[in-house]
Amino acid sequence: MNLVLFGSPHENGSTFQALKKNCKEYKKFYLINCFKKKISPCIDCKFCKKNFKCIIYDDMIEVYDKIETCNKFILASPIYNFSFPSPVKAILDRTQCYFYKNILKTPKRQASLITVSGSRDRFGVSVAEKHFKYFCKIAGFEFIKSISYFKTDLEPVFGKPKI
Ligand SMILES: Cc1cc2nc3c(=O)[nH]c(=O)nc-3n(C[C@H](O)[C@H](O)[C@H](O)COP(=O)(O)O)c2cc1C
Repeated sequence: MNLVLFGSPHENGSTFQALKKNCKEYKKFYLINCFKKKISPCIDCKFCKKNFKCIIYDDMIEVYDKIETCNKFILASPIYNFSFPSPVKAILDRTQCYFYKNILKTPKRQASLITVSGSRDRFGVSVAEKHFKYFCKIAGFEFIKSISYFKTDLEPVFGKPKI
């Protein structure tokens, strides 16, 4: 199974256009819409430090399962306030258990990042890339590429990616 973690509240907005454009097979991917999941924030309770899993029981159970069993992974997300939107951030924070579990030992699977930004500012994308690369490391993915679209406030994503 290939997985898309979809981080926009707009099901047919710029993020979705960017996903469609860069992943022709997106319909065959299992898509998790972060905005439709009920996922609590990490509370740094340290349970995962000893138990290598999260103590919170919510929709993250499904997300863990898909992240752990997928072959390819794409995170497609807009940039909000120089980072990921809070539902995406909550999911990434909840993967702190992988930091302790050291999934690094598992075979590498491929992961890519697609971001869209309303402005031309690159700072948010650089933060998102850094965060995503760290996630890849702890979750056992090989970072493949980051595709970024800018200035979607002026024109929605239909053109070429501006990397
Ligand atoms: C709460 C919020 C914060 C945003 N922060 C940024 C930002 O820091 N930098 C930026 O370039 N665009 C920012 N944007 C603009 C979005 O990245 C842009 O509108 C994007 O195209 C939305 O994608 P979507 O159509 O898939 O939802 C923000 C939008 C919202 C709603």
